[in-house]
Formats: sequence, C-alpha cells, structure tokens
Amino acid sequence: MNKLTFFFFLFTALAYGNDDVIEFHTPIGVKKLNLEQLQKQFVEREVSTYNLDTKRIETFLGFSMDNIIHSFWSDVKEANNFVQIECHDGYIAYIEAKKFRTNRSYIAYKLKGNDNFVTIDGYQKKIVDLGRFYLVWKESYKKGADTRRRHHWPWSIKSIKIINELPDDIKPLKTASDDVNWGYLNFVKQCLTCHKLNGFGGEIGPDLMLSENWKKQDDKWLMQYISDPKSLNKDSKMSRFPKYIDIREVRIRNISLYLRHLTGLGEDKKEGRFLHSELEKILEQKVQR
Ligand code: HEC
Repeated sequence: MNKLTFFFFLFTALAYGNDDVIEFHTPIGVKKLNLEQLQKQFVEREVSTYNLDTKRIETFLGFSMDNIIHSFWSDVKEANNFVQIECHDGYIAYIEAKKFRTNRSYIAYKLKGNDNFVTIDGYQKKIVDLGRFYLVWKESYKKGADTRRRHHWPWSIKSIKIINELPDDIKPLKTASDDVNWGYLNFVKQCLTCHKLNGFGGEIGPDLMLSENWKKQDDKWLMQYISDPKSLNKDSKMSRFPKYIDIREVRIRNISLYLRHLTGLGEDKKEGRFLHSELEKILEQKVQR
C-alpha cells in the first residue's frame, strides 16, 4: 500500500459518520436527504469539468444546484440573497445566489470510474476526503484563463441555507475608500469561509475582531500572513491566498486595509451600510469607466 492509499483509508475510516445526509434549511423546515432520496427527487447528471486542485479534467456524478435551489427556495431573490453552504469541518461558503444562475454547479457524490472520492490540497500537502457531498462547478480550462473566476468548491457538505443579506457588522462604512470596499468583497470570498468577524462567518480560524495578535503586528506581517501563512507559522492550518489569482498583491493589500478599517470603527459603527449588491455595482461601474 503506498502512502497516499494508506492516508485515504485512514481518512475514510475517521470521516465515516453522520455525513451521509444534507440538511436543506427551507422556508417550510429542515429537510434531510441522503443520496437515495436525492436520486429520487432530482435528475442525476454527469459533469466533466476542470478541477484546479488536481489540474485535471474530471467527471463527477451529481445533481444540479440550480434545480435544487429552485425546488426548495422558490422565493429566492437572486439580486440580494446568499447561499450558505456549511461543511462538517466548520468551513462555511457564502455564495451570491445569482452565481448559481449564471454558472452551472452540481452537488457531486462520486468521481466517475473511481472508488476514491478525494482531492489534493497542495499547500497543506494532504489528501482530502470529499465525501459524501462536494460542490463542483462547470469550468472550462484555457491556459492563462482568468483565475479569479474560481468558485467555491466546498467538500463534506453538511447543510445548505439561503440568507437574505450579509450583516452590516462586517461591512465597510458608506464613506469607505474603494480599496477598502474591494478588500471587503475579497474577504467575503476568500476568508469569511474560515473566519468570523464580530460573530459572523466560518469556524476554522479565530474571529478576527476578537483576536488581538494580528492587530499588534504591522501591515507587512499581516500581508505576509495572508500571502503565505506557513512562512510565519510552520504549523498554520490556514490556506494561503490563491497563488495564481490576478493582481494578487493588490487584493492582499486591500484586505488588510479593510481589516484595519473594521477594527478602527468607533461610534460610527452604527451607521447604515450599502447592500452587498449595491456595493458590487458601485465598484464595477468604476472599473468599467
Ligand atoms: C482554511 C481556513 C482559512 C482560510 C481560508 C483563511 N484562514 Fe486565516 N486562519 C486560519 C486558522 C486556522 C488560523 C489560526 C492560526 C493558523 O493556523 O495559521 C488563521 C489565522 C489568521 C490570522 C492570524 C490571527 C492572529 O491574530 O494571530 C489572520 C490575520 C488571518 N488568519 C487572516 C486571514 C485572511 C485575511 C484570510 C483571507 C485572505 C484568511 N485568514 C483565510 C484559517 C483560515
């Protein structure tokens, strides 16, 4: 048995448990469905897509997320709602509902022709068990393609909810600079999955508004931690900021400006904020100009 196979068996042995159902938090209560029930209710699809982790085209079996969303949440408001996907390890992805309309995604349960349902985390140097359910997106691969369009591919999915809007508590003030606002949008996509801010967000890392350590460090340290956490803390469990994303340094700087902006809020904390979609629109219009 080679090393990889050994770890695979170890992982499946440990992970096998209550992860054989997904909880759908619908307006009429929580529905728990296992694979058999999903197969009864939704058409099973075969989807070939480029997987950035393994750098291969892979074929998955699964169910269309767009179908699932419209069957459980017929009142979804694509402009403002978020789909919240929580995983068994505490990772929580917040994905704009409209993304499921404009891009095809699937809840996958198997790699076709393969009994192992795993992927590789190159930065943490480990094999990841995806089971039972993994969210995949239909991506085509072209060399030099715009990698910022990478979507969330959360594995080991525990529950799916729709939330109306992200809380004001994590948003910049209406008077914030464009850089801070860009930092917010990047944080929601890259960091909120693992970190809470003022109690809202994923559960893998510390709440960054409560954690005092980073606030004592300078911006150089903060940007280095985001860029390559293992270079400052060899035991870090944090993923590094996507390596091949465009304008990487600018994004990292904007995130650190945004974090300083939030920690610097005083009485103005209670001021109103833009809707997430309004903020996106304001920034996009400026880019186009
Ligand atoms: C996969 C989960 C994960 C993601 C994604 C993630 N982090 Fe972390 N982060 C952690 C964990 C876990 C820690 C605790 C220390 C460690 O393991 O590095 C941490 C620690 C930190 C710290 C140090 C906290 C302190 O006070 O010592 C900062 C700052 C930080 N993260 C910022 C970010 C930012 C900004 C992003 C997005 C670009 C991000 N993290 C993305 C998991 C994550």
